Amino acid sequence: MRKINTIGVLTSGGDAPGMNAAIRAIVLTAQHHGISVTGFKRGFNGLLNGEHFQLTECYVRDIIHHGGTVLKSARCQAFTTEQGQLQASEVLNRLAIDCLIVIGGDGSLRGAELLADYWSGQIIGLPGTIDNDVAGADKTIGFATAVNTAVEAIDKIRDTADAFERTFLVEVMGRESGYIAMSVAIACAAEQVLTFESRQLPSQQLASIVNHITNAQKSRGNSSYIMVIAENLWPTGTIELAKELTEQSNIECQPCILGHIQRGGRPVFEDRILATKLGVAAVEASVDGAHLVMLGEVNQSITATPLSKLALEHKTIDTFLFNAQQQIFEYHDFHD
Ligand code: F6P
Repeated sequence: MRKINTIGVLTSGGDAPGMNAAIRAIVLTAQHHGISVTGFKRGFNGLLNGEHFQLTECYVRDIIHHGGTVLKSARCQAFTTEQGQLQASEVLNRLAIDCLIVIGGDGSLRGAELLADYWSGQIIGLPGTIDNDVAGADKTIGFATAVNTAVEAIDKIRDTADAFERTFLVEVMGRESGYIAMSVAIACAAEQVLTFESRQLPSQQLASIVNHITNAQKSRGNSSYIMVIAENLWPTGTIELAKELTEQSNIECQPCILGHIQRGGRPVFEDRILATKLGVAAVEASVDGAHLVMLGEVNQSITATPLSKLALEHKTIDTFLFNAQQQIFEYHDFHD
């Protein structure tokens, strides 16, 4: 087993609250083991352009409570090419990096795996994305904060929706995963949720949604009605859907797109603790020779999943949660 003298770390893809807590834990644990840490800036771009600096204890002292990432993040098209991976490996060799820790979503972690064809150092991934769509991790770093942010926003929308007896379609992030949408819908007692996991295709849904909104109004009288919708779900977009629903139901449906607000903000304690555990575990795993694995928490244990498995395993939404949402919903006709 090689002795680890220097660890490289980068954050890649959509930033997620808690990434700073992971960086902090990596730096402090590395220091404990007498290992130095090099931070690469702007994801894989930092590897390609040689943009790096030494991460020391004083650099990470006051970062655990900040959203975003002190290393900056980005997507990096150039890294997906052979030339890019070769260039990155040259930089890693030049800097004598023994192990690279990549914090990011499944795309970034799969990118990290590609490096192994050109570079002989160890590669370890940590799941950092608000989307919670990475297999091998019950929760990804940033998911809890993003849900919390969306819940706070929707609670506020509920106040004004109640006051005006209005219908709102609130779009939340998640790329192609319904985890945020489903969790937020349950936590906000939304009247309806539309996610990729819904049983009907969007084309079949319009009439059902119209029925649902009008039936809710008939049985309750005028009242607030909130539908949470996953981004990228409706083929023509949430704003168009709101227009179509308004036309067909004769009830004004207001769209509200929460967008990037869900990526920022102070990480909630769950993300700080998860990120800290995974950061510590990543350094310890590197010392123990771990390679080409992602560390995630599964049933309260830190688990190593081969990076090669991530592309093969689609993390499906918790079916209990999905069924629960359907059962506790007041009007059952929508999914009949
Ligand atoms: O993966 C995190 C995420 O915020 C997704 O939920 C969203 O679809 C995407 O990133 C947005 O990416 P960008 O910030 O590049 O527009």
